[in-house]
Amino acid sequence: MVDYPKTYLVLTYGCQMNEHDSEVLAGLLESTGYIPAGSTETADIVIINTCCVRKTAENKVYSLLGRLRRLKAANPAMIIGIGGCMAQQEGMAARIRQYFPYVDLVFGTYNLHILPELIERVLEKREPVQEVWTESLALKEDLPVKRKEGIRAWVSIMYGCNNFCSYCIVPYVRGRERSRQPEAVLDEVEKISRLGYKEIVLLGQNVNSYGKDLNNGIDFAGLLGEMENIKGVERIRYMTSHPRDFTGRLIETIAASSKVCEHFHLPVQAGSDRVLKKMNRGYTRDEYLSLIKKIKKLIPNATITTDIMVGFPGEQEKDFNDTIDLVNQVRFDSSFTFIYNVRPGTPAAKMEGQVSEAVKRERIQALIELQNRISLEKNEAEKDQIQEVLIEGENKKVLGHLFGRTRGNKAVFFPGRKSFIGETVRVKIIEAHLVRLMGEMVN
Ligand code: SAH
Ligand code: SF4
Ligand code: F3S
Repeated sequence: MVDYPKTYLVLTYGCQMNEHDSEVLAGLLESTGYIPAGSTETADIVIINTCCVRKTAENKVYSLLGRLRRLKAANPAMIIGIGGCMAQQEGMAARIRQYFPYVDLVFGTYNLHILPELIERVLEKREPVQEVWTESLALKEDLPVKRKEGIRAWVSIMYGCNNFCSYCIVPYVRGRERSRQPEAVLDEVEKISRLGYKEIVLLGQNVNSYGKDLNNGIDFAGLLGEMENIKGVERIRYMTSHPRDFTGRLIETIAASSKVCEHFHLPVQAGSDRVLKKMNRGYTRDEYLSLIKKIKKLIPNATITTDIMVGFPGEQEKDFNDTIDLVNQVRFDSSFTFIYNVRPGTPAAKMEGQVSEAVKRERIQALIELQNRISLEKNEAEKDQIQEVLIEGENKKVLGHLFGRTRGNKAVFFPGRKSFIGETVRVKIIEAHLVRLMGEMVN
């Protein structure tokens, strides 16, 4: 008789899309009878959902694999599977077989839905299974999802990316843009709202291209409009949106909506036209600045955040100064800052003028210093204001304190009873820090 494993653990690296894929992987495993394990030590199956957007993400997986090797030596029945973006890369399955022969299963981003079947195959044959599809077949709907408990639920609206920014590996491992049918999305959001989730985060690598491939007239603004009527949903967020196709109509839809939050995450990447062009971002510095101006005009209290990269090939001092200047002009509430990292197979990897590590470090430090100063100033400006806060949970560090987020996505901590979790309350901001605000509830 075959001795079937009983417990599983899914470990996730990467972006929210991967986090959500892991919820699907967990859902699939639970629907075939597995139960969650508390730790890698007690798991019969460990699935690693990987990211490859930067080298650091890959390194984390390699060091985890080293640790799992020892566990597997102690417990040879344990099954180790690798999926996600890193596994999807060309040649990766072969490399894993060569360097990590104790990995039982490799699967890609297009075939994660057949995980239970793949595990069956591992169990039957007791030999490694590698199945990485090279393209997406039909979109799978109605897969089981084991969502994180709480107030926030993720919903994919589209997969893939057609933008091919010259530094980025995502289009190669996630394929072309595929939108879900609006009915399927709305149906899922309705179901989730009935489960008690208050905040929906719509996911896609480039959500404002939503619908372009459906040819039925729906676009992202239209989808947001439809969501306005779903009862129970209090807040709608989305990520990520590309500055290029962020239309005026979309800004107007958001301004008119009571649910879509006034938080705009618009990755700018660089402030120099020369660099933006080489990055293939599809907008100029002026176009980006005028988009921000439009948003600020229509929604004066909007929070604006971004992603910025330093050290892109050919970036000179004057290009970097353009980035600094843009940050000073926009005054982002916060930014994710990255050092450019060569991704094999992308056009930028072969570009001339790769910037030295020392210069990259110098630039990122200057950028972070500036951003921190601005973030703190912007948070200070919230003092004495009254903000609408959706309470997410208890502050684990301070007994009797809760935490939640403003519509602008800023974390707020304040005294309050646990029974308030899930409610939207008014909070007066009394103290500002770099990444959080302190406040007190008001009636
Ligand atoms: N689809 C999202 C980005 C996903 S990747 C968008 O277009 O906004 C998240 C961020 O990682 C990017 O915005 C970029 O700033 C950074 N990034 C992507 N590739 C990178 C690379 N090769 N080196 C360093 N940072 C990178
Ligand atoms: Fe990568 Fe650009 Fe697509 Fe974002 S829009 S996922 S940065 S290619
Ligand atoms: Fe990473 Fe894949 Fe997301 S490469 S950033 S997990 S789409």
